[in-house]
Amino acid sequence: MLDKSWLTFRGSLTEKMEEASGRPIKVRVTSQGMGPVSEEERRCLGLLQREWAWIREVELSIDSVPWLLARTIVPRQSLEGELRRLKLLGERPLGPLLFNRLSAERCDIDFTEVEQVPWLNRRFDQTLWCRRSLFYVQDRPLLLKELFLPDHPLYGQSKK
Ligand code: PHB
Repeated sequence: MLDKSWLTFRGSLTEKMEEASGRPIKVRVTSQGMGPVSEEERRCLGLLQREWAWIREVELSIDSVPWLLARTIVPRQSLEGELRRLKLLGERPLGPLLFNRLSAERCDIDFTEVEQVPWLNRRFDQTLWCRRSLFYVQDRPLLLKELFLPDHPLYGQSKK
């Protein structure tokens, strides 16, 4: 049974996943730096045509089993404020910095089922849930996309 509380949860997903598993989350940064954004991301963030942003992509695992893929998109102007700390995160998870240190607010959440993930260029043999959250820190936006992988408890037992 799908546990939709994962999709609507407004706090730190890292903490919720650690509570659910009783194990620490491992963050692996798969890509990080300035890069092009999709049309959808551009619209959400109000970026100009062909404007690049700072992008961080990570894989989150519990006991070496990947649970979540995340992509964070930060407009260049947002990096001028407190959000510049994001660049120093490395393999530490985003949640504590965002929620505890920067008091970020998750303003807008949207979720949808996807068959393919444009930013990954990868297909899965089942549909997966993806959610998109818009945050503000000191009035500066960032967009976070989270893809729930088949082993994530969101899917309950049904997809294991
Ligand atoms: C990250 O470290 O980039 C990160 C961690 C947990 C999430 C999303 C992103 O739920």
